[in-house]
Amino acid sequence: MKLFVDTADLNEIETLASWGVLKGVTTNPSLLNQVEGDEISIYRRICELVDGPISAEVIVEGREQMVSEGRRLAAIHPNIVVKIPTSADGLAATAALAAEGIAVNMTLCFTAPQALLAASSGARYVSPFVGRYDDIGNNGIEALREVVEALWGFESEVEVLAASIRSPIHVVEAAKMGADIATIPPKVFRQMLEHPLTNVGLEKFNADAAARHARLGG
Ligand code: E4P
Repeated sequence: MKLFVDTADLNEIETLASWGVLKGVTTNPSLLNQVEGDEISIYRRICELVDGPISAEVIVEGREQMVSEGRRLAAIHPNIVVKIPTSADGLAATAALAAEGIAVNMTLCFTAPQALLAASSGARYVSPFVGRYDDIGNNGIEALREVVEALWGFESEVEVLAASIRSPIHVVEAAKMGADIATIPPKVFRQMLEHPLTNVGLEKFNADAAARHARLGG
């Protein structure tokens, strides 16, 4: 499973890119609202930092408007993936953009039927939201599993991009069930890395290396 970061914060992206684990980036209007600067410059800089699919979301309604906005976003950089909401207009816009060879990430997907429609419209990625489904008292991981299973053998290149990830457990569950990608907030990346026994173990190794050095010199 490929690991993407879910943020528009350039400092966070630069830091996580330096770990060598990032395969792509997703953004959305809410994430962009948390940072300063114009969105085109932000997308360009993200494309410099990470060599992989970079999702940029349309913020217009209506099929034609989404298609025009999608073309404008796709022209920014070859790695830009146009993010479009799961709606009737969104499906139609996705089909039009896919026919032009523009990759679409269909977002705000919650169910397997929605995912099947997204895949059928030609979406390159479909993004089931795990955490937000949990938030309304459903089981987001089970909903993600249904999407993964429904798209097995689907005759297109569509990839399941697990979104709205809230914990390392979500990431591991997504990987175990065979999701293609998980897009992960920076905070969850840090939670994935940290373990008290790793820290304690490293302190002990360093202390023992220093003791040996003090004893033997050199
Ligand atoms: C998907 O690509 C979205 O940007 C994101 O995962 C939504 O996550 P949230 O529910 O934490 O806002």
